[in-house]
Amino acid sequence: MDKLDQLKSTDRLRHMCEDFCHNSVIDAALYNKYGVKRGLRNSDGSGVLAGITNVCCVHGYVMSEGEKNPIEGDLIYRGYSISDLVSGALNDRRYGYEEVAYLLLFGVLPNEHELSSFARLIAEYRELPRYFSEDVIMRNPSPNIMNKMQQAVLTLYSYDSDPEDKSAESEMLKAISVISKLPAIMVASYQALRRFYHNDTMVMHQINKDESLAESILSTLRDDRAYTADEAKLLDICLMLHAEHGGGNNSTFTCRTVSSSGTDAYSAYAAAIGSLKGPRHGGANIKVMEMLEHVKTGVKDWNDDEELSAYLIKLLRKEAGDKSGLIYGMGHAVYTLSDPRAVILKSNAMKLAEGTEFEREFKLLDSIERLTPGVFKSERGDIKNICANVDMYSGLVYKMLKIPVEMYTALFACARMAGWCAHRMEEMINGKRIIRPAYKAINLNKEYIPIDKR
Ligand code: COA
Repeated sequence: MDKLDQLKSTDRLRHMCEDFCHNSVIDAALYNKYGVKRGLRNSDGSGVLAGITNVCCVHGYVMSEGEKNPIEGDLIYRGYSISDLVSGALNDRRYGYEEVAYLLLFGVLPNEHELSSFARLIAEYRELPRYFSEDVIMRNPSPNIMNKMQQAVLTLYSYDSDPEDKSAESEMLKAISVISKLPAIMVASYQALRRFYHNDTMVMHQINKDESLAESILSTLRDDRAYTADEAKLLDICLMLHAEHGGGNNSTFTCRTVSSSGTDAYSAYAAAIGSLKGPRHGGANIKVMEMLEHVKTGVKDWNDDEELSAYLIKLLRKEAGDKSGLIYGMGHAVYTLSDPRAVILKSNAMKLAEGTEFEREFKLLDSIERLTPGVFKSERGDIKNICANVDMYSGLVYKMLKIPVEMYTALFACARMAGWCAHRMEEMINGKRIIRPAYKAINLNKEYIPIDKR
């Protein structure tokens, strides 16, 4: 226990918070008065244009005569639609994450030879430095894998012979290294959590360099190393779908912002992991599954749309669930009619769930997706389109793959590392300016009072 814990629930701490709130709360009307783009959003909800990228296009609406017109969403990596990339890999019966990582990093699709040699390279770097697991992960385990991954990525700095070298070659090496190592860091962090926080047995398997990234995750995670090709292919699809999402999403923008200060690669990637952890971002996949548990106990008849809608209203009114007022898995800053990642995941989740114990849960999520827009309209009078996002079905897919809930957001981070790397390197060669928006200060000047007169 930290000594600071002794302060919990004391009057002293309460007074500190009261002082802070009293002197820090900002009247919401001031944001309009000063024309602040809250959340870096324009008044129609679209993002403030903060940069230009070659890496990815997130397409969720078209502007016509100043109006935002909803469309089916598309996600385009370096010019190629995600649905083509996923179906290309599936049709060829091969793993696709390595191909997507290659595409994001180098900007072109690899031929067969280039792909196999890149996959081999990623596998070669997968192993963690000697004693890294013992010294960095096991000695100081964390109840949250994301925090541990963040710390471990930062610590890779100490294992790099030239961590401050920001030449293109060095940045590429660092990128390949972190993309390769993050899954091993994730699994080791989970095993440490399992031992120290769940009082369970920790199992540390050797890495098999002949496996794809998705296979490697399943084989190092499972005690018996057993997995089917269908399971690994499904995880591979999840990794492909999560690999990249434009420059404006919170973690990628964080990575670009931190990179724009000229700091080292490990600092930028660790910051991105910290951002992704948040429940409004990558952490939503865990929140969806928590919400599902609340709905399962709060709604007697899961097939009764009226009862389910009433519960969704309670969620929005902060009367149920985690009382945040959010229906997790719904809504997106860019997508309007559909999030293409959710569409692909949903159809795969449905195939896997059919005829199994998970079918009822799948149908319940499907009903939440179907009923939420109406509930939104009745509660908030919103005419805005609200669709299911990628997190709606990803948690259920991971559950069906027997992946522990603590790893859901961590898997997202492993996949997204390829996107973060591409964006950091793009920022380094093009940005050339520190990202530095402004804050309007509203505190009035006060006359200094000597300490004996306060
Ligand atoms: N549940 C409840 N309220 C929601 C909501 C949801 N799922 N999605 C949007 N809203 C609310 C917003 O909080 C906002 O309310 P406010 O104007 O009172 O602040 C309003 O609807 C408009 O939001 P919008 O501009 O469409 O969305 P956003 O860009 O601010 O937020 C998300 C996008 C993803 C953060 C938001 O939809 C959300 O919190 N969803 C739930 C969490 C989630 O699934 N995250 C995963 C993202 S991939």
